[in-house]
Amino acid sequence: MRVLGIETSCDDTGVAIYDTTAGLLAHVLFSQIKTHQQYGGVVPELAARDHIRKVIPLVDKVLADAGVEAASLDGVAYTKGPGLAGALLAGSSVARSLAFAWDIPAVGVHHMEGHMLAPMLEEPAPKFPFIALLVSGGHSLLAEVTEVGEYSILGQTLDDAVGEAFDKTAKILGLGYPGGPAISRAAMAGDSTRFKFPRPMLDRPGLDFSYSGLKTFALTKVAELQPLSEQDIADVACAFQAAAVETLVVKSKRALKQTSISSLVVAGGVGANLLLRDELAAMASAEGFEVFYPKIEFCTDNGAMIAYAGAQRMHQATKELAFQVKPRWSLEELQPL
Ligand code: KG4
Ligand code: ZN
Repeated sequence: MRVLGIETSCDDTGVAIYDTTAGLLAHVLFSQIKTHQQYGGVVPELAARDHIRKVIPLVDKVLADAGVEAASLDGVAYTKGPGLAGALLAGSSVARSLAFAWDIPAVGVHHMEGHMLAPMLEEPAPKFPFIALLVSGGHSLLAEVTEVGEYSILGQTLDDAVGEAFDKTAKILGLGYPGGPAISRAAMAGDSTRFKFPRPMLDRPGLDFSYSGLKTFALTKVAELQPLSEQDIADVACAFQAAAVETLVVKSKRALKQTSISSLVVAGGVGANLLLRDELAAMASAEGFEVFYPKIEFCTDNGAMIAYAGAQRMHQATKELAFQVKPRWSLEELQPL
């Protein structure tokens, strides 16, 4: 079965073709970073308009890159939610229209299920059950995954998502958008002993996270340090990153021990963070766990994960023209296959 996947939930237009026999045939991505950078964050209306401009040219490109005809596709998968309503509508309406024109079924995919299944595109792929650590700009959660569609949330953020904390702290430090890569870059020149950020929720039992305190701490530090030197920026970035990463590592270890599961799958944009990868690797080797990631380019939003998740759910695809997007949508509402 061959599926075209379209991702438009936020500021990346991603399109890919996944074949259940041959694997990923091609994927293309257009990042809107330049459009939103001048505003310091994603402007929803501009995001939706850019998706409309880019989806069809990217579909043409991915078909050409894969060297296949549209007539060989068996279905279209698109991100139905969660995400920005206008951005989701842009991708969903194009996906439904293409499916109608090609007379094939279409299915709406949960964005976070896409992230969570992205490591399945790698060799070796993780086996069920596993613990998923989903860390993106909109979500921070730990879930127990017993099979595709069977997700039980063990803990999540009570306020900001961890990627959002990276983005806000970067803004406070004048590092620009997106904040995650900017903070990691700045932190490389930082002195890890100069500042110590709090470790929110670590002293409490349970698996929930809280990240808004880190951003407030950064704000207070930066106010004290004015005028900020390059070294101050690097040192605050370094201390923020260490605190954000440590809480993720400790809670992941707690979730694995509590469930007696030995595989951890890390997904979402923050999964690209190299300190997080190093610290998780150290924890896993000390405890006898295995950690799985998507390729770095499939940690952030992309079409490949939507094509893959859509291929798993093709039996739910329809030829209906009516569609609905779900800007807010809990993973736990999904049904097993
Ligand atoms: O998964 P994603 O592309 O979009 C959402 O679904 O939110 O994640 C984007 C988030 C942003 O907050 C970005 O700052 C963060 O992932 N991010 C990183 C890194 N690369 C992206 N955070 C920390 N370190 C990174 N290297
Ligand atoms: Zn995402």
